Amino acid sequence: MQNIETYIKRRLRLMESMEPDSVLFLFSAPPARKSNDVFHPFRQDSDFFYFTGFDEESAALVITGESTTLFLRDKNPEQETWGGLRLGVDSAVERLGVSEAHNIDKFQDKVQAILKNRKTIYHRFGYDPKRDALLLESAAELLKRTRNGEFGPTRIIHLSALTHEMRIIKSAEEIEQIRECALITKEAHESAMSAARAGMVEYELEAELLRVFKRHGGTDAYPSIVAAGENACILHYIRNDSPLRDGDLVLIDAAAERGLLNADVTRTFPVNGRFNPEQKALYEIVLAAQRGAIARMTTAHTMDDAHDEAVRIIAQGLIDLRFVSGSLDEVLENKLYRKYFMHRTGHWLGMDVHDVGAYHIGDAPRRLVAGMVATVEPGLYIPVDDDRAPPPFRGIGIRIEDDVLIREGSPEVLTEFIPKEISAIESFMNR
Ligand code: GLY
Ligand code: MN
Ligand code: MN
Repeated sequence: MQNIETYIKRRLRLMESMEPDSVLFLFSAPPARKSNDVFHPFRQDSDFFYFTGFDEESAALVITGESTTLFLRDKNPEQETWGGLRLGVDSAVERLGVSEAHNIDKFQDKVQAILKNRKTIYHRFGYDPKRDALLLESAAELLKRTRNGEFGPTRIIHLSALTHEMRIIKSAEEIEQIRECALITKEAHESAMSAARAGMVEYELEAELLRVFKRHGGTDAYPSIVAAGENACILHYIRNDSPLRDGDLVLIDAAAERGLLNADVTRTFPVNGRFNPEQKALYEIVLAAQRGAIARMTTAHTMDDAHDEAVRIIAQGLIDLRFVSGSLDEVLENKLYRKYFMHRTGHWLGMDVHDVGAYHIGDAPRRLVAGMVATVEPGLYIPVDDDRAPPPFRGIGIRIEDDVLIREGSPEVLTEFIPKEISAIESFMNR
């Protein structure tokens, strides 16, 4: 949690951008069931945390032009013995800076009163059908009673219209936290690179990554991808149960989350510490594409510009290797590169790994702005049964992913210090 003032200021900004006579609802994340009565570790909803700094389940924030009210679980010594300490209603105003706090048990009964004489509801609908129904039915109930001179909301606006535009520009504190995640991630990747040996199983490297994340009070930002050999051609590979073979590459897409901020990093390296000529040839293309794309992560460009540059370099590389035929224009026009590079080059990064915020404003790609953070992650994946690629290239998958801070002038690559050049990887692994 950051300083309480941070959250108060964010709520004030939210209040200022709300329409007159409106009310905004924001709910904590639901607990996620793993199986039967076992739950995944609780992970707060990013929007909810951004505006409250409050990390408990079963809570609702209500903002109007006049007040911010938090509904939360009250203290309960018996239940706290099982589920852990709670902040409780009495401490919430002072500790979180809200104007009022109430027991969440009362929330349902109060919704109608909250909606009375409001014209507009802000709510992130489509996530929890019960909450959607509660708000809609309560609003409809009020609208039936207009003969008394009362009125109820007739409009509902998705909350993302307000919150996601705030979250897309990172504060100095958030950038500092992402830097810390980047440092932890560096240690994790280096530790996995150091540990890798032929004969190990992918999950042993996953364990190494998790050990480092946890040792620093973090966790994995997303299930780590540890993909050896042709597994690297499966973009969302998370089984991590294949052996590492001498002569293969291993692709690791893994990063730390801490304090609800994230890094997102991919490195691809040889199990035995030395790239072979085919691996080198492909790696150099992906690296050039990444460098080209990063050079376009400036306030003069858009994410599409960075993607187009990565695609151009990869397409030329595929032509040079004769994996595709035609002129560069033809290969681009007919998207022939997509067989080998089928995903986008990057995404916003922040409290969510695939962070929120619009990529387009109207029909046009959005210009980058200082304070945005995004990944740059081109890749090349040669299907194992590809008949255009000579056999030694088949089944090679390479992605290189870094996290980039947009600044006035050149961008800062927050994760550049994780070995990336072929020479840097080889000397790190053979030191
Ligand atoms: N690790 C998810 C991604 O790279 O987008
Ligand atoms: Mn990514
Ligand atoms: Mn990634």
